[in-house]
Amino acid sequence: MSLCLNIKYAGDAVNDEALAKLRPEVLKAHDYLRTGTGKGSDFTGWLDLAVNYDREEFAAIKASADKIKSDSGLLIVIGIGGSYLGARAVIELIKSNNYNNLKKDTPDIYFTGNTISSTAVSELVSICEDRDFSINAISKSGTTTEPAIAFRVFRDLLVKKYGADEAAKRIYVTTDKSKGTLKALADREGYKTFVVPDDVGGRYSVLTAVGLLPIAVAGIDIDALMKGAQDARSKYSEPDMDKNDCYRYAAVRNLLYRSGKKIELCVAYEPSFTMMCEWFKQLFGESEGKDGLGLYPSSAIFSTDLHSLGQYIQQGERHLFETVVFFREPKQELIINDDPENVDGLNFLSGKPLSYVNRKAFEGTLLAHADGGAPGIVIEVDRSDEYNTGWLIYFFELACAISGYILGVNPFDQPGVESYKKNMFALLGKPGYEREKAELLRRLSE
Ligand code: PA5
Repeated sequence: MSLCLNIKYAGDAVNDEALAKLRPEVLKAHDYLRTGTGKGSDFTGWLDLAVNYDREEFAAIKASADKIKSDSGLLIVIGIGGSYLGARAVIELIKSNNYNNLKKDTPDIYFTGNTISSTAVSELVSICEDRDFSINAISKSGTTTEPAIAFRVFRDLLVKKYGADEAAKRIYVTTDKSKGTLKALADREGYKTFVVPDDVGGRYSVLTAVGLLPIAVAGIDIDALMKGAQDARSKYSEPDMDKNDCYRYAAVRNLLYRSGKKIELCVAYEPSFTMMCEWFKQLFGESEGKDGLGLYPSSAIFSTDLHSLGQYIQQGERHLFETVVFFREPKQELIINDDPENVDGLNFLSGKPLSYVNRKAFEGTLLAHADGGAPGIVIEVDRSDEYNTGWLIYFFELACAISGYILGVNPFDQPGVESYKKNMFALLGKPGYEREKAELLRRLSE
């Protein structure tokens, strides 16, 4: 097995009796998801994606990745939310959070379209100067404002640098198969396009072209990534949570929520997991946070954050628990050297691998936090390679869907995201929003 779940430190609220009581709800959630009778069932294509994916498109992704690797030193990936986080998370976890600074034979990859900061976008424009680059614009709807603005900026840059014809050969668009402004533009200009399947929502789309093209450009083996997800899919198809760690995780986090632990901290001991935490936060936050319900997903990287959030976790308000993802084997080892003078008093660690110290920090912290009333669910994974990352992605996606159904919400919509957009458009003077604009201006001037 690739992933090992340990709920021993999950606290008193998680016991055999409480789990047994929740069993019918888990079975119902399983039924909703597997028979397509639950809320949002039009968006469950990700469930079988690891085996049902479009082989032709998969081959085209690899071919485009090869072309980008051969003609570009830099790939600009444009997207936001589910059209951004998965690719970055996988690249950083498997390669490094310092990916762009590594010595490598693959292009640098920068992400934009996820901010409207003029400073951040301008910085990236100057990074592109004097470099050969390509663009992958990603938007399922094809209408999201942030990536649309970024695409206008970087497309213009590319056309100025190479001329319209060559620029068109350096633009790759991942969007709906027929709808949206981005699709219309791509068809008009002859850009290479990839499809976001209709039945896969943004935050569940990392194993489609949305994530796979940038991931393949980073030199990551996307077959092995899919294989991990495939094996996880077989492993977690069992309805009985005693035999299904993924369902058990979903059940345990719901028990903790019901016992007053409203915040779930996704924790890891590898800085390369930072963006996976961001992906986790979007996956669970958008899926569960609605109808006045939902765990608030947060994150921390230890031991770094033990010197910032650690105090709060140990002794602050008792409303949180941790889900700790721990990788057993580091990508690289470092042995602590001996100092004959032992000036720093650290010779008790001489000759020890640094990963051993990291493990002891994990074990000690888990116990200390559990003693302090911040229980922990532990997910141990052998290593952060392609296979295990694919497995982990499927584990969390499935856990999120089951968990959302146990909670009683639709885990596949995000109606609340529209409110800020409506106000922003009104304040920007978009045609059709005149009445809203007058009302907002009145409130802002009060
Ligand atoms: O998970 C989601 O559905 C969202 O986070 C979307 O991915 C995000 O809003 C971007 O949407 P789009 O891909 O349509 O530009």
